[in-house]
Amino acid sequence: MLNEFWLSLEYLPLAGEIGATAWFPAMESLHVLSITFLLGAILMVDLRVLGLAGRAYSPSSMVSQLVPWAAGAFVVANISGLAMFITRASAHAANPAFQIKMGLLLLAGLNIAYFHFRAMPAILRAHDATILPIQARTAAGVSLFLWCAIMLAGRWVGHVT
Ligand code: HEM
Repeated sequence: MLNEFWLSLEYLPLAGEIGATAWFPAMESLHVLSITFLLGAILMVDLRVLGLAGRAYSPSSMVSQLVPWAAGAFVVANISGLAMFITRASAHAANPAFQIKMGLLLLAGLNIAYFHFRAMPAILRAHDATILPIQARTAAGVSLFLWCAIMLAGRWVGHVT
């Protein structure tokens, strides 16, 4: 049943067009560029929140200036990822590396919600102190780990069946 759904995606004219033309490498390039911006922005925020870099900058202003970059890049990464996914949907859906990547993306989303609702108020209460509360540092550490793991899982998709 689910497999039929993946196959129906592969049979879409759009999937055929992307898979058989220069659209595929174009989407792959866009995917890599967007995740560079995404990870770049996340890395700067996480290192600052952990107190490992940029201690001279206020964490709340770094968050407000960099999160829009991460959010925009996240949207482009998802669109380009989806464009590649539909060309081989059934194979990707059955691929353990792809499944792990999607599971980790879900966890990263939950961690972002934790950061927003728990860690960010703690950062503001701490008046942008150099060493931030433990909730904030934990969320930043988990974020670094999850995004590195997502990158590794993404890289392995083409090499695992
Ligand atoms: C937004 C967070 C995401 C990150 C950080 C990410 C990361 C990656 C990485 C590192 C690669 C390998 C690129 C390469 O070496 O050329 C990759 C490839 C790929 N990604 Fe993503 N990805 C994300 C979202 C998505 C989503 C949402 C989908 C699908 C719904 C997706 C589908 C794919 C596909 C189909 C490939 C090509 C795999 C292959 O054939 O080698 N990605 N991704």
